[in-house]
Amino acid sequence: MQIKKELDTILQDTLKSLNLNPKLKEFSPATKVEFGDFQYNGAMGLAKELKQNPRAIATTIANELAKNPIFSKVEIAGPGFINVVVAKEFLQKHLLSALNERAGANKKEGIRVVVDYSSPNMAKQMHVGHLRSTIIGDALANLFEFLGDEVIRQNHIGDWGTQFGMLIAYFEEQGDEASKSLSDLEEFYKAAKKRFDEDENFAKKAREYVVKLQSGDEGCLKLWKEFIDITLEHCQEVYDKLGVGLDKSCVRGESAYNESLPKIVELMKEKDLAKVSQGATCIFFEDKENPLIIQKADGGYLYATTDLAAIKYRVEVLKAKRICYVVDARQSEHFELVFKAARMANIAPEDVLLEHIAFGMVLDKSGKPFKTREGGTVKLIDLINEAVKRAKNFIKNKEDLSQEEIEKIAKVIGVGSLKYADLSINRTSNYIFDWDKMLSLEGNTALYMQYAYARINSILKKANSFDVREVILSDEIERRLALKILSFEDVLLNAYKEAMPHLIAAYLYDLATLFTKFYENNPILKEGIEEKLKNSRLILAKASANVIKTGLKILGIEVLERI
Ligand code: ARG
Repeated sequence: MQIKKELDTILQDTLKSLNLNPKLKEFSPATKVEFGDFQYNGAMGLAKELKQNPRAIATTIANELAKNPIFSKVEIAGPGFINVVVAKEFLQKHLLSALNERAGANKKEGIRVVVDYSSPNMAKQMHVGHLRSTIIGDALANLFEFLGDEVIRQNHIGDWGTQFGMLIAYFEEQGDEASKSLSDLEEFYKAAKKRFDEDENFAKKAREYVVKLQSGDEGCLKLWKEFIDITLEHCQEVYDKLGVGLDKSCVRGESAYNESLPKIVELMKEKDLAKVSQGATCIFFEDKENPLIIQKADGGYLYATTDLAAIKYRVEVLKAKRICYVVDARQSEHFELVFKAARMANIAPEDVLLEHIAFGMVLDKSGKPFKTREGGTVKLIDLINEAVKRAKNFIKNKEDLSQEEIEKIAKVIGVGSLKYADLSINRTSNYIFDWDKMLSLEGNTALYMQYAYARINSILKKANSFDVREVILSDEIERRLALKILSFEDVLLNAYKEAMPHLIAAYLYDLATLFTKFYENNPILKEGIEEKLKNSRLILAKASANVIKTGLKILGIEVLERI
């Protein structure tokens, strides 16, 4: 359920009935718990407009609000803030809904959304730079889907460009060994480049391959395809290990748009949006210094041309209403110009939302770009393996676990930690990669959340079956916990609007912390607790666990029934 929307509706009806028309028509979360649950700050602005006393206006509104039983308290503070507390009776009535398979969060009206994420370049190993796009993109895709959108995951891989001539020439030269040497793409690329620089014959062949490839030569395309397939297999290994929802069917790389590129340039010229400048075809913008180049003087197309063609495809064929690009913040200017051009040419009509979901860089603890000890790029696969290895340290002393269980648990904790560390910070900030912090039991970490879940689960197990009927909120902690549990949908909708997964992580952490406080203060299974109260507390526990599990699942993180 959407608690805030419920309250906002009451507020709006109240304002209407009082013939008041302030600019602000919504509650905000209370700035301090002591103030209550929500506050309404619109009375001051309204008073200014009407040249009246703000406290007097606030009193009028508050008196009217107080008539509604949804509030147990309506209070005026300071110059005219209205603080409200949600009545426990209301929460008691709704709490059972948090036990359902959606943890009480409803679907909204769905739209079709494209999420463009991961999108590695085929000539390179997936490295730490792709970590964020892959993890954040997948979490967003999950969130959109959960809320009812039809999500099309698109892996816009970099599988075209002149460097492929060189790579294919080397691939061919390697013969049967090619597949093996491709297992380390970084090395493969370096070796190919070395051959290219050192051997004139090889370089000539590579250049011929570029021309042949671009003119659609079959033999050459076959080699290229094989090269891409093997490379994609490596990516798939990363996706599977990470538990990310990308597979072959999501791949639509740059090469898929080759045939549309001349048409895009044509269209831009026809609409008088593109001009030839120093031989290159450019789109100029009134308010921008740099133009967007869509065709080079030698006839070659660019990254931007492909992206325009991809927008056209996503709008016309995929019929997307929201297109999200989960890409590094350093590409902000690129997307700004591409989106502008797409709007001007009406490739993307106004009712299609184009969004660059930007994220910051991955840095080490000293604030420098994250590298291996030797200064090389960190491969994603090594990072995942390392996370799992480190997670094993946490559980290796548990004698009652079989080897198989240890492997399974280490994977859930290791991969979960890697993902959660990234998802729990605001994506626009740079991300300081820190193993110790990531795998800590304290603070807002995957382990903290996974432990909280496992602990609740063991309480529920101990309780066996219990009567799931009536919730009695016996004190303020329980009331606040219930309100938190029922705020799940509000939080998801906010995260949806802003495309900010960390809002979900922050909420889950608050919930887990509140649960711990509840559990420490309010015994559940202790002798002498009245049956009705015990049941009610078990319902609160079960609902908390359900929300944590569902929320983590949206973030792409698994839970364990026990750790
Ligand atoms: N391949 C690009 C890179 O690794 C990212 C592509 C992002 N998606 C897009 N439609 N431009 O930087």
